[in-house]
Amino acid sequence: MNVLEVKEIKKSFGSKKVLDGVSFSVPDNCIFGFIGRNGAGKTTTMRAILGLLKTDGGEINVCGERARYGCTPKSGCIGYLPDVPEFYGYMNAHEYLKLCGEISGMGSSELKTRISELLELVGLDKEKHRIKGYSRGMKQRLGIAQAMINRPKLLICDEPTSALDPVGRKDILDIISAAKEQTSVVFSTHILSDVERICSCVAFLEGGKTAFSGSLEEIRAVRGNTALELTIVEPNDIERISSAFPDGRVNDGKFILPQASEKDCADLMAFLSAQMIPIARLERREADLEDLFMEVIGK
Ligand SMILES: Nc1ncnc2c1ncn2[C@@H]1O[C@H](COP(=O)(O)OP(=O)(O)O)[C@@H](O)[C@H]1O
Ligand SMILES: [Mg+2]
Repeated sequence: MNVLEVKEIKKSFGSKKVLDGVSFSVPDNCIFGFIGRNGAGKTTTMRAILGLLKTDGGEINVCGERARYGCTPKSGCIGYLPDVPEFYGYMNAHEYLKLCGEISGMGSSELKTRISELLELVGLDKEKHRIKGYSRGMKQRLGIAQAMINRPKLLICDEPTSALDPVGRKDILDIISAAKEQTSVVFSTHILSDVERICSCVAFLEGGKTAFSGSLEEIRAVRGNTALELTIVEPNDIERISSAFPDGRVNDGKFILPQASEKDCADLMAFLSAQMIPIARLERREADLEDLFMEVIGK
């Protein structure tokens, strides 16, 4: 079953069309990567799912129930970590979670167990300081605990790793992976390596539409071992290669030809040889999310 179904949602702000038919489904027990560059409409889509924003059309079902503006479907079905979570800085983590649990109507003994479970899950169980002294990463971790307090079936996290350093990002990704035992997770990001690390399904948002959605397995099966990655000795040669092979792109000093056929491979080698361009390495590798993303956004 799908815990979330988004069908053809549309949203304009004034004359600016931000969402123009966004559709995707999130299966149960899945970590879903919602990918798009800054300003693509990820937060707007999430706010629509949460019933915090009125759409201009389309349909959203959460846990089998239609989501409507102004009323979150089935109380407790969704947990939400906004992109910039706000807390009461004078409280400590335990006090804050207790307040959140009480607001959502949990009984005191259930709440006590749940708070210990969650503080352990997010690695704040030994933390006694007030929230105002927390790092960004600690606030994101507490935000995940808060969003999971009443055992939601779907946890929505808006760019939980974007403002963090590599260690902080890894902590959050590990927590989200562990949270999958309890809930499905949708998280938005523009960091593709985070998605490749923990997601089983993805959707790409571009130009107001979902350009692609499906499982990473599907992507790999369709695309296979098709990308060519070339490292050259002399960086100045890269321009000549790029202009001869306009379907390729340059990333980190390497030239990448996604979806390269055997003929493309032979053509590239013939070109390098004819132009006497010395190469350091030429590798055929599996197409990755970045290849797909660049194709989707037409770069
Ligand atoms: N309340 C609003 N009023 C006007 N424009 C908005 C509003 N919310 C978002 N937008 C615009 O919609 C676009 C998508 O924003 P957003 O959903 O925040 O993107 P993302 O989260 O992918 O970075 C942006 O161009 C943004 O300026
Ligand atoms: Mg956003």
